[in-house]
Amino acid sequence: MDKFSIEGPSRIRGEVEISGSKNSSLPILAATLLFNKPVVIKNLPRVKDINTMINLLRSLGSKIILSKDRRIAKIHNKTKLKTFASYSLVKTMRGSILVLGPLISKYYKSKISLPGGCLIGARPINYHLDSLKKLGMSYVLKDGYIIAKSKGKLKGTTIKFPKLTVGATENSIIAACLAKGTTILKNCAIEPEIKDLTNFLNSAGAKISWIGRTCKIVGINTLNPTEYSVMADRIEAGTFCVAATLAKGNLKISNFDPKIINTEMGLLKKFGAKIKVHKEKIFIKGPEKIRFIKKIKTKEYPGVATDLQSQIMVLMCKANGKGSITENIFENRFMHVAELRRLGAKIDVKNNQAHIYGNTKFIGAELMSSDLRASVSLVLAAMVSKGKSIINRIYHLDRGYENIEHKLKKIGVKIKRIKQ
Ligand code: EPZ
Repeated sequence: MDKFSIEGPSRIRGEVEISGSKNSSLPILAATLLFNKPVVIKNLPRVKDINTMINLLRSLGSKIILSKDRRIAKIHNKTKLKTFASYSLVKTMRGSILVLGPLISKYYKSKISLPGGCLIGARPINYHLDSLKKLGMSYVLKDGYIIAKSKGKLKGTTIKFPKLTVGATENSIIAACLAKGTTILKNCAIEPEIKDLTNFLNSAGAKISWIGRTCKIVGINTLNPTEYSVMADRIEAGTFCVAATLAKGNLKISNFDPKIINTEMGLLKKFGAKIKVHKEKIFIKGPEKIRFIKKIKTKEYPGVATDLQSQIMVLMCKANGKGSITENIFENRFMHVAELRRLGAKIDVKNNQAHIYGNTKFIGAELMSSDLRASVSLVLAAMVSKGKSIINRIYHLDRGYENIEHKLKKIGVKIKRIKQ
């Protein structure tokens, strides 16, 4: 298993280009199961989770041709697809549950492994199943599989989500596209990745419109050929903004629409970052002294993204005072705390709240990655630690950050991958 060796502390400067969004690519790729006309998806990030989704689609019989650089997928499902998604594939990535909506909507049946939980939480899928049931899907759970079917086309209806949920909103929108009649989804999550999904579907003739958190989908018979470029990854952009703020950085971060991280940029300015915003790029300068913020809470979009919580926690370790961060989305998303303590952080955790004592002097150490976003917080902390750090099990990082060591090296971080 590969590891990273990082020599700190580094000041960072230069330019970073943001890759396509993993969390937008996954639902969009899943939605291509609805098509039997050619679809071209561009700006795919070269990360493991995308490979997993492509393998899953191919295991269903989807015909996918990838460009040499794997950023473009040409998909043409001429024949009827299979509807069985095996545990061996689904267990490696929870986002696989997103194939359930399109399969049941297009083929009226699907047998798909229940996605396992993961380190950050149990990750149940009750909201997915409840919503698809209201659209006409029936299912049984047997031997760890969801065995689902519908009597012909799904039927449009009105559904109000009991809680904001990204995946269940996406699964339901995709399923409703080919349903009979109109579906109104209320209390939807409105993350930019979900809007990217609906822009993609509308580019193929779907009839999806939004008013606030209400999404209206008028069912159609078939989707047209389309070519669509996935949005930039706002969590990668946010991560590099935190890096610049943390390491007295001076970065140009390009290839993304700064509006998608408005909230987080506002927060970083409070920490002392200076940010100049342009159409498709920002210039960000980190402060000599990082100001502290007393209370930060993660919230569904447009709140502070849970996927940036661990990165922001590193910033709070270096801030010149004490602060607390409350994780409101997942029940166990502080796996990075124990590892940050190995670098010298002083953090007390009580339930879903972490109290961070600032002015930490990080000293390099050997660390263990646990999940995708926690792992990147270890990279950030190692970057500003005195001496050498080793970060193990970086396959977690490879799931969602394209070429991270090359991007970091280019802006001055002394990082190298040790292949094992
Ligand atoms: C998506 O996960 C993202 N994954 C996550 O990113 C992200 O952290 C999360 O949204 C929140 O923004 C992808 O887009 C592939 P939810 P998802 O449904 O859809 C509970 C990353 O690092 N819930 O909004 O699973 C759930 O347990 C990943 O890229 C139910 O209880 O998130 C969680 O506590 C990590 N029942 C909360 O709701 C359900 O049926 C929010 O989950 C569904 C969710």
